[in-house]
Amino acid sequence: MSLSNSLRVRGVGGTLQLAWRRFRDKDGTPAYILSRTLDLERFDREHHVETAGLIELDELEISSPSKKHGVRYGGASPWIFKDLMARLPIDHSKYTFIDIGSGKGAALFQASDYPFREIIGVEFSLQLHQAALRNLRSFRSNTQRCTKITPICEDASAYEYPPGPWVLFFNSPFDVPLWKLTADNIARCAEGHPGSYLIHMNRGFVPGTPEFVESIPFLRRIYCDDVSAIFECIPVPGAPA
Ligand SMILES: C[S@@+](CC[C@H](N)C(=O)[O-])C[C@H]1O[C@@H](n2cnc3c(N)ncnc32)[C@H](O)[C@@H]1O
Repeated sequence: MSLSNSLRVRGVGGTLQLAWRRFRDKDGTPAYILSRTLDLERFDREHHVETAGLIELDELEISSPSKKHGVRYGGASPWIFKDLMARLPIDHSKYTFIDIGSGKGAALFQASDYPFREIIGVEFSLQLHQAALRNLRSFRSNTQRCTKITPICEDASAYEYPPGPWVLFFNSPFDVPLWKLTADNIARCAEGHPGSYLIHMNRGFVPGTPEFVESIPFLRRIYCDDVSAIFECIPVPGAPA
């Protein structure tokens, strides 16, 4: 699309946002990944938490056999998170937000700006879970609308989901084999919970995962861009209601 057409269709803000999403440095790293640390450092200063920075899983003691499938810790970019939240057509008070692979809690604190019924984080590294608990104690916000935030230390593939509906948040936590186990686990718990949503952020980060998530039978895609996709959970034909 030409620049003038893009300005007409998307406006100045939308065109700049798209340019930013597409821009990459000389090594091919997208600009939104480069800006994440700066954005999170500002978020941390404003909210009295420590969620910025990257931590490789090899630097952490994790006993779970899922470790080899996991992705390093890196918190959600606040502006991308906000953009995705604005696309959810929901009454937040009826939904539980669940971050699968919640790390130090960056997405949990960002989600607390919305009046969710409850916010839960599932993280398999004890050290990151403990960092999330420390952050929860120091977290300050003038815009917080959900105060029921519960970080849990557990492997995603074994997590027992609470009653739905949910907004399930996945910021690229693991590779396809673990996605398969997690999808089976969700399917087992998800019967009877159509109306839930699943967000896949930084979806291109782990090869094969965008295609796998697209193929999950109980998901129907309602939004997609270069960075993220949103799906709604639908009943699977033939599955018990
Ligand atoms: C890219 S970080 C995302 C952090 C957080 N969701 C956010 O957006 O702020 C991925 C996280 O998933 C966690 N993780 C990876 N595999 C996991 C598993 N099997 N069960 C639970 N957590 C896992 C990692 O330890 C890491 O903290």
